Amino acid sequence: MNGESVGTPEEGDITGSAISIKDLDLWYGEKQALYGVTMDVPPESITALIGPSGCGKSTLLRCLNRMNDQIQGCRVKGTVLLDEENINDPSTDLIDLRRKVGMVFQRPNPFPFSIYENVAYGCRCAGIRNPPTLDKIVESSLKSAALWGEVEDRLDGPAASLSGGQQQRLCIARALAMRPEVILFDEPCSALDPIATFKIEDLLRQLREEYTIVIVTHNMQQAARVSDRTGYMYLGKLMEYGPTKQVFENPQNESTEKYVSGAFG
Ligand SMILES: Nc1ncnc2c1ncn2[C@@H]1O[C@H](COP(=O)(O)OP(=O)(O)OP(=O)(O)O)[C@@H](O)[C@H]1O
Ligand SMILES: [Mg+2]
Repeated sequence: MNGESVGTPEEGDITGSAISIKDLDLWYGEKQALYGVTMDVPPESITALIGPSGCGKSTLLRCLNRMNDQIQGCRVKGTVLLDEENINDPSTDLIDLRRKVGMVFQRPNPFPFSIYENVAYGCRCAGIRNPPTLDKIVESSLKSAALWGEVEDRLDGPAASLSGGQQQRLCIARALAMRPEVILFDEPCSALDPIATFKIEDLLRQLREEYTIVIVTHNMQQAARVSDRTGYMYLGKLMEYGPTKQVFENPQNESTEKYVSGAFG
């Protein structure tokens, strides 16, 4: 919890944090990519990260489920609290962490399996083998990802036969099947057309009711449309972070103002 919210909560105010990042620095070898990032991500809300290419958005996102651990020479300093526990602690169970904090990437990346198996796979790996239980999880995850109606009669068909937008919703269903608390999205719509993008944005608004969402987007209109809070990053620093309306309409930092007004980036 943190003390940022005072009085009546307004749109975008923080009333408790699902994730609390404090003094986070990150290096790729000798090169520092994040500088002292401190931010609280409220639960059941959408937080957008914006900023020019190379400013550290994906790097910061990957710190939230320790995906950077897989990059050789990457070193992190600082804390990331999830449910009050520091995920950077060496004792963190990474499988459990990545179950709690799911991720959806820029390009839809379904497994080369059937639609059904894409959603069931993580559950099987977690030891759930009972067919009726798996059926229920697959159905509810596909429903929550707004895909069920389009695939219910072809669950055994290959995931690769779906359109790009459907594949991205399948990847969201796959993440949902693990019952995460947080879902990270790294530019989930950049490979999609406007209609598929609209469907994903609609879905994000629905998922916000139950999940904590952090989304990296290059599309400022998208950040303004879907997010409750926005963080503007520049050269590895979080320059500004606040309610989306404020960041876009009344930015406190000069470089944020230039970026959101389209003057650079
Ligand atoms: N695996 C890596 N090894 C070395 N340097 C990296 C690695 N990944 C990212 N970087 C560097 O870290 C900095 C931040 O990169 P990052 O990918 O986080 O930026 P980004 O804001 O997500 O950019 P984009 O909008 O282009 O996706 C960049 O200078 C990038 O070159
Ligand atoms: Mg990126």
